[in-house]
Formats: sequence, structure tokens, C-alpha cells
Amino acid sequence: MQKEHNIKFDSIESYDQLDETEKTLFDKAMEIRELAYAPYSDFTVGCAILLENGEIITGSNQENAAYPSGLCAERTTIFYTGANFPEVKIKKLFVIGAPRKATTSVPIPPCGACRQSILEYEAKQKEEIEIYFASLGGAIYKTKSIRELLPFSFDSSYL
Ligand code: THU
Repeated sequence: MQKEHNIKFDSIESYDQLDETEKTLFDKAMEIRELAYAPYSDFTVGCAILLENGEIITGSNQENAAYPSGLCAERTTIFYTGANFPEVKIKKLFVIGAPRKATTSVPIPPCGACRQSILEYEAKQKEEIEIYFASLGGAIYKTKSIRELLPFSFDSSYL
């Protein structure tokens, strides 16, 4: 028997279609992306997280000469958030990535390891985190939960 597992996402046509909060998150992710430390890939990523208290936490990818020791923007940002605000719920996570020297408008999704890490915090807070991902122009994709991007996700319920 073949079964299907569909995912749902919104395609927001452009920056102009975002609401004010979303625009702020987009702007902050773009701004912090400029500070990414990505000398090896030259692929720079910015992330902005909105907390339930209105605070916005930002971060970027941090690379390393020993390549696997580097970390993506999403995990840099969510681990900092988890470390500093363990009791504050995360409402939204916005990520924007692109090669430093090229323009691309294809939305860049979080990598698998980042999806798994974001899932951990969603499960911990027992409330969904809205995920937005984009590139420099074009559409912004939005899901209501990280689970949409991680079908058949593994979490502590299996342990
Ligand atoms: N990167 C991120 O920051 N987030 C992702 O979800 C995908 C990849 C970074 C890691 C590395 O510094 C560069 O992009 C190229 O893979």
C-alpha cells in the first residue's frame, strides 16, 4: 500500500505582502546576515527569532577551518535563545540565505540538522513555531510548524 505525507506551506509573493512584524523579522535577518562569518562557503545566512515577549534574537552562520565545527545561522540563533531565555516561548523563526556575491530569489530552506534542532524547542515549549524562509528577493515560504518541514520527525516521544 502506498501512502502520502503532504506538507503545507504558504507562498508569500514578496516582501510587500508581509505584515509589519514579518517585515521587521525579514529586515533583521537581512541585517545580521551581513555579519555572517562564512569565509569558506561565502554563503551567508541570517536568522531572526521572535519571542512571545516581543524580543527579537538574531544570528548568522559561523564557519570554521575544520569545516564540521561551524554552525548554521538557525542553530546559532536558537541555541543562544534556548541558553538565555529558556522559559520564553518562540513564536516565529525567519531565515534568509544566499551566496554573498550572487543574487538569488529561490527561498532557501533550513538544512536537516537545523530542522531537527528547531523541532526540539517546539516540542519543549509545546507550541508551534512559525517558520519563514527566503532569499534576497522573490517569494517567502512560511509553514505553521517545523513539523511541516520534517515529516516523520523523531522526537523524545519515541525514547
Ligand atoms: N547554512 C545555514 O546557515 N543554514 C542552513 O540551513 C543551510 C546552510 C550555512 C552553513 C554554511 O556556513 C553555509 O550555509 C553553506 O552551507
